Amino acid sequence: MKPLGLLLVVLLAIIGVYGVDRNNFKSCDQSGFCKRLRPFKPEKSQYTLNLDSVIVHGNVLSAEVTTVNTETEKKITLWRYALKLSALVDGTFRIELDEADPLYPRYRTQLALNGEPKADGLKLISNENGKLTLSNNQGQKVLITSEPLKFEFLDKNGDVAVVLNENSQLLVEPLRVRKERTDDEDPGNAENAIEVEEEGTWSENFKSHHDSKPRGNEAVSVDVTFPDADQVYGIPEHTDKFALSTTTSGEPYRMYNLDVFEYELDSRMAIYGAVPVLYAHGSKRTVGVFWHNSAETWVDVVNYADGTVVSSLVNLVTGGQKRRVDARFMSESGIVDLFVMLGNTPADVFRQYTTLTGVAPLPPKFSLGYHQSRWNYVDEADVRSVDENFDAHDIPADVIWLDIEYTDRKKYFTWDLEKFAHPAEMVANLTAKGRRLVVIIDPHIKREAGYFVHEDAMEQGLYVKDKDGNVYEGWCWPGSSSYLDFFNPAATKYYAERFRFENFPGTSKDVHIWNDMNEPSVFNGPEITMPKDCRHYKPPQDGHDGLASFWEHRHVHNEYGLWQIRATHLGMLERSDNKYRPFILTRSTFAGTQRYAAMWTGDNAAEWGFLQASTRMCLSLAAAGISFCGSDVGGFFKYPEPELMTRWYQAGAYQAFFRAHSHIETKRREPWLYEASTTALLRDAVRRRYALVDFWYTLFYEHTLDGTPVTRPLFQEYPKEEDTYTIDDEYLLGDKLLVRPVLEPGVKSVKVYLPGRDTNTLWYDVDSYQAHKANGYFTQEVNIAKIPVYQRGGSIVPRKERVRRSSTLMANDPFTFVVALDANNTASGSLYIDDGETYDYQNNKYVYSKISYEPNRMSYTLVNPAAQYSTRAWVERIVIAGIRNPPKSARLLQGDRSSALQMTLHRGNDVLVIRKPAASVATDWTIEFAY
Ligand SMILES: *[C@@H]1O[C@H](CO)[C@@H](O)[C@H](O)[C@H]1NC(C)=O
Ligand SMILES: *[C@@H]1O[C@H](CO)[C@@H](O)[C@H](O)[C@H]1NC(C)=O
Repeated sequence: MKPLGLLLVVLLAIIGVYGVDRNNFKSCDQSGFCKRLRPFKPEKSQYTLNLDSVIVHGNVLSAEVTTVNTETEKKITLWRYALKLSALVDGTFRIELDEADPLYPRYRTQLALNGEPKADGLKLISNENGKLTLSNNQGQKVLITSEPLKFEFLDKNGDVAVVLNENSQLLVEPLRVRKERTDDEDPGNAENAIEVEEEGTWSENFKSHHDSKPRGNEAVSVDVTFPDADQVYGIPEHTDKFALSTTTSGEPYRMYNLDVFEYELDSRMAIYGAVPVLYAHGSKRTVGVFWHNSAETWVDVVNYADGTVVSSLVNLVTGGQKRRVDARFMSESGIVDLFVMLGNTPADVFRQYTTLTGVAPLPPKFSLGYHQSRWNYVDEADVRSVDENFDAHDIPADVIWLDIEYTDRKKYFTWDLEKFAHPAEMVANLTAKGRRLVVIIDPHIKREAGYFVHEDAMEQGLYVKDKDGNVYEGWCWPGSSSYLDFFNPAATKYYAERFRFENFPGTSKDVHIWNDMNEPSVFNGPEITMPKDCRHYKPPQDGHDGLASFWEHRHVHNEYGLWQIRATHLGMLERSDNKYRPFILTRSTFAGTQRYAAMWTGDNAAEWGFLQASTRMCLSLAAAGISFCGSDVGGFFKYPEPELMTRWYQAGAYQAFFRAHSHIETKRREPWLYEASTTALLRDAVRRRYALVDFWYTLFYEHTLDGTPVTRPLFQEYPKEEDTYTIDDEYLLGDKLLVRPVLEPGVKSVKVYLPGRDTNTLWYDVDSYQAHKANGYFTQEVNIAKIPVYQRGGSIVPRKERVRRSSTLMANDPFTFVVALDANNTASGSLYIDDGETYDYQNNKYVYSKISYEPNRMSYTLVNPAAQYSTRAWVERIVIAGIRNPPKSARLLQGDRSSALQMTLHRGNDVLVIRKPAASVATDWTIEFAY
């Protein structure tokens, strides 16, 4: 959905213009602090650490930092700051720099972290020659130079891995009292002259919008240097490449959650989400930094290996050494709060980030199936016909979605009872086939007398306030709207209670929730969002008055959506007494979003460029903790021709969140509305997804254990292979499948990079079991039915091959295990099974097994024998690809059972199929081979 609404869509369609209106969104020059900070490159940092003030207690070093005026002969202290350096578990350090005595507390981002990070030990090793040396328990060190202040983080080899303030761009603008000028002041007086403030200090304008900036300037900034790095990644959400570009000759990357109508490709503009984590990778190591700040943020990147960086500068700065990347974070407010994650591998640093911000909990299994959405399925008959057409055309589906039109005139928690008179029966009809319903609930509330949410929110003071402390009114889908202030615990509680079944009639445990427009989108606000001087709730504290009594929207903007999905999550847990796992989809994202919701890349268009962008955008989000990512399959705006639609379904089938969705003004495009030949291709793509739902579910379970992405960049598994560093049209599912979706029109072949040359890796085409030796790029022929997917030699992948209407109906279906052998004739894999929807798995009601194959035996072993789940699912087939010396006989041993198994050879006698071993997947078993 989109802010400017139908009028603009129609208008644009008429005049044939398509694309973002850049005038609606700020450039760095139009954003006061970015304009002010970006040129700030002092020769020498003004920040100095006072060595006499250093205290190390527990895992924390605290010290006083001052800025001094170095232009006068006698140094004059300008400002005092409090520094905290903490050693945290898992190779992570945290630096916090705040004013020692701010006029009022500065905002500290509240929800990104998954609780208080756990402490590691911190030892002060030495304090001499103006330098402090500290070490954590793992032997990773921090060197702090006191003047000018600089931090160097050393890896376990003692090599410098991350440097802060190398470029002297550390900055915390102190909060000041606004001095009103009076007539009797002498403008010639030197003291008054200091008070002459730069324009924009106490207010800013953008287009017709005025920002009152009651606290004045309060920006923060730090520069980070990554020696030896080839590339940096992260800071989603942007549409450009996964490996970030040097920004010197253009705009910095911007992070400010915005509803950008027809957002543009290959751009560093801000869109819906902001996850301020940055990774640096090279053949020596992978490290990362997490900038813990929810205000508007801009990031500059300079990659010294990049052709655009002048070589004289490279030589000057790096001493001729080419590998180095510098980055710089600039935020409008908050404190300097930076986590430094020392890796050493990509998997380590991805895990370190989820150690801080949390993993995605195990999703309900249905949510890994196929989702069918549209703005809008207009009434019950429409929903019923869509549902029935999936069956009529033998296409599995798990979820039907309802966009805003299901409500009574955009009043959330109500139904349009003319079109949806029997919601409970409609849902029951879906659940009879194992399907679910998802309905939309946005954070804007219609200001209408008699609407209970609005009346309660007014009466109980639950809305965001404007700059003067009155309820803020903006324009969104319902027209005049106000916005729930989820920072207020009373608002969160009230909103969460609305999800109780008795408060939202027609819903049940099988109705899940979509939170859209939660950047928040405000059609008539600056940059289509909420004014920065709006006020959010702050808990009462001492001295709780004036500017200390509320947070401004500018402080919290990027985490507003996170507060909404947290409240939705709470409500969905409470409605079922914590029995069922909620599924939530969000558009706005921030660090920590993964703990509550899946996300999608917003309002894209039916163009090849957006299909291409979906792969790299989800890769970047997965690295930033949010693996449960997808794009609107087919494109939201415009109509996808059959080839694009086919390629998008084929790509979507291998992305974590697989949902088709479309704009209200576009032609209907459910899979059966295309010609039969196209429908057949779409059906095939969806069925491929269903064959792997248990594999996806196992990957998500394993993500909860190790915190690494479900969808991975190639360099995560092959960190020394330099060719992989910039590949973003290809990715891995776990460490087992390699996917290279066809993203280009009219092609007969695609280039696929097969990594693992040094380890003699084999990649088996999943369609033919043909093995390819890893040797960098090779050319894969494709036709319209072909999706290049390869299984790594050495892996075992569970599949389910019977076609059903939904994943729920497949629960007891038998498995096929595909064993792809490596050069040593071995392979391993895993399988996770539970009831798919409750939290009983937390009480040992699950099966998690390791599967391994060696030439003499194949075994299936429960990892935790105390965990049991009684499933009727069994193994109906084992396919062993790449077999060189087939066994003569095989025998299954399970419990008391010992039975001879039938085997057949296929292809060039290199694929062995074991038919109907009929082993249960609920207990251990072994197959012994004889030669
Ligand atoms: C539910 O299914 C029944 C049987 O097909 C049908 O008669 C009824 O209209 C459906 N109800 C709704 C609300 O779609
Ligand atoms: C095969 O086994 C050898 C010895 O254990 C090991 O070094 C090598 O990495 C293995 N090769 C593969 C492809 O796994």
